[in-house]
Amino acid sequence: MGFSDDVKAAAEQISDAPEITIISHIDADGISCEAILSQAISRQGIRVKSVFVRQLEPLTMPQVPSDNSLKVFADLGAGQQNLFLERGFSEKEVLIVDHHVSQECERQYTQVNCLPYGFERMSAAGVSYLIAKQMDSANTDLAKLAIVGNVGDMMAREKCGLVGPARDIIVEDGVSHGNVEVRKRDLNCYGTATRPVHLSLTYNDDPFVRGISNNPEGARQFLKKLGIRQQTENGRWYVWEEISQEEKRIIISALAEQLIANGDTVDRLFAETYGFPDETPRTPLRNAQEYATVLNACGRWAKPQIGSAILRGDRGTAYRDAEHMLKNHRAIIRNLLEFIIDTGVKELENLQYLHVGARYPDTIVGIGAGMALSKLNAKKPILIMCEVPEDPNLTKVSMRTNERVVEQGIDLQQALNCASAEYGGGGGGHKIAAGAYIPKTAEEEFVIRVNRILGEQFAAAGSGNR
Ligand code: C5P
Ligand code: C5P
Repeated sequence: MGFSDDVKAAAEQISDAPEITIISHIDADGISCEAILSQAISRQGIRVKSVFVRQLEPLTMPQVPSDNSLKVFADLGAGQQNLFLERGFSEKEVLIVDHHVSQECERQYTQVNCLPYGFERMSAAGVSYLIAKQMDSANTDLAKLAIVGNVGDMMAREKCGLVGPARDIIVEDGVSHGNVEVRKRDLNCYGTATRPVHLSLTYNDDPFVRGISNNPEGARQFLKKLGIRQQTENGRWYVWEEISQEEKRIIISALAEQLIANGDTVDRLFAETYGFPDETPRTPLRNAQEYATVLNACGRWAKPQIGSAILRGDRGTAYRDAEHMLKNHRAIIRNLLEFIIDTGVKELENLQYLHVGARYPDTIVGIGAGMALSKLNAKKPILIMCEVPEDPNLTKVSMRTNERVVEQGIDLQQALNCASAEYGGGGGGHKIAAGAYIPKTAEEEFVIRVNRILGEQFAAAGSGNR
C-alpha cells in the first residue's frame, strides 16, 4: 500500500459514512483541514459537524462526541491513539488525517499520514486536500485552502517554497483552478500585502541583512537612497505587492549586494510565494503567509469557527471579527517576543528555557518561541513553559529549533514525548517543533531531563562538539 492508496481508502471510508464529525486543531493548518474536509463532505450530501480542540489530551477528549458518526481527526490524532483506545473507539469509528509523528497503539486505527511515506514537507491540510480531490475531482477550488494550511505550518520555510506533492499537485491545482498565483523568485519576506515595504524588509532576519533586518529606520533610509517611492500623495504607505516590478528588482539587487559585501550568501533572499488574485488587494488574505496569520489569530484566540467561515468565503461579519483578532494577536505576539528577549532565557548545555507564567495563553507560546529563536542562540533549542488556565496542576511546554540543529540529530518530538511520559504527561509534534503537557510539580526535573535527552541525541549523531 502506498500513500495514494491510503488517500483512496480514506475517501471511500468518508463517502460510505452516513454522518461525520471532524475533530480538528485550532491552528492555521487545522482550520484549513476542517474547511477543506467539511466542504468536500457536505458537497457529497453527507451530514457533517465540526469540533475544534487546542490539542487532543485527556482534558479535551470529552469534546469528542459519543455518537454514531465517523470521527475524522485532522491535524491531530496520530500521536494520541491511546486516547481513542481508552475511550473505547473501534477501528471503524475513527479516521486519522495527519502529518504528525505516530505513537504506537495496540489498536490499528486507519490513518492517512504523509510522514511515514517520506513527505516531510506537507501538512495535514495537504493530506485533507488530496482526500477531497479523490472524493470529487471538482474540489480543486480547495487547493488554495491547502496552500494556506501548508504555509501556516511552515512547510515552505526551509526550502523557500513548497516542495514535493504540496508543490507538484496542490499548488499546480490551485494555479489551474485560477485562484492561486505563483510568484517565483519573489522577495523572501513577510507582510507583502499589508505592511509598508520598509517594515516587510525589517521582518526578515533569514537572511539577516545588517542595518535593515529589525531596523525600521535603516530600512526606510535604504529605500530612500534607492529612490523608491514609499508613500502615496496622501501619506499612505505602499506595500510590496503594489510596487512595480522594476522597483522590486532594484530593491532585491541592492539587498543582494549588501549581503555579498558582508560575505553572506543570497540564496535565501528569494522565495517562491503564493498569492491569491481573487482576494481584495492590500488585505491579509492576498497571500498564503498573511492569510495563515489571520487563521492563527482566530484559532489561537478561541474562535476557530471564524477562521473556518473566512475560508468558506465569508467576507462580512466573520472577516470584520477576524480583523480585530488579528490586531490583538499581533500586539500580544510582539509583546511576548519582547518579554522573552527582555527577561532572557536560562541556558543549559543543550537547550535554553524560560517560564512565562500566566502572562500568555498556552496556545501562543510556541509561536513566540519560534520567533524568539532567531534573536537568541539559534544553535540551542528553545523551551518555553506556561500555566494552563483550565488546570492549575498542569504546565504547557513548547519547543522550537531550526533545520540545522535537526540535521545534527535533534528530534524535539521524541524528546518531549519521552520525557513527558516519564512524568505522567503527554507530548508530540515534529522534530523541529513540539509541545507537551506535564504536571506543574515536575517542571524543574523535566527541563533537566529534556536537556539530557537532547545531549544523548547530539551524541548519538556524533555532533556533540557543536
Ligand atoms: O500542530 P502543528 O503541527 O500544526 O504545529 C505546527 C507548529 O509547528 C507551527 O506553529 C510551526 O511554527 C511549527 N513548525 C515549524 N517548522 C516545521 C513544522 C512546524 O516551525 N517544519
Ligand atoms: O503548541 P505548540 O505550537 O508548541 O505545538 C507544537 C507541535 O507539537 C504541534 O505540532 C502540536 O500539535 C504538537 N503538540 C503535541 N502534543 C502536545 C502539545 C503540542 O503533539 N501536548
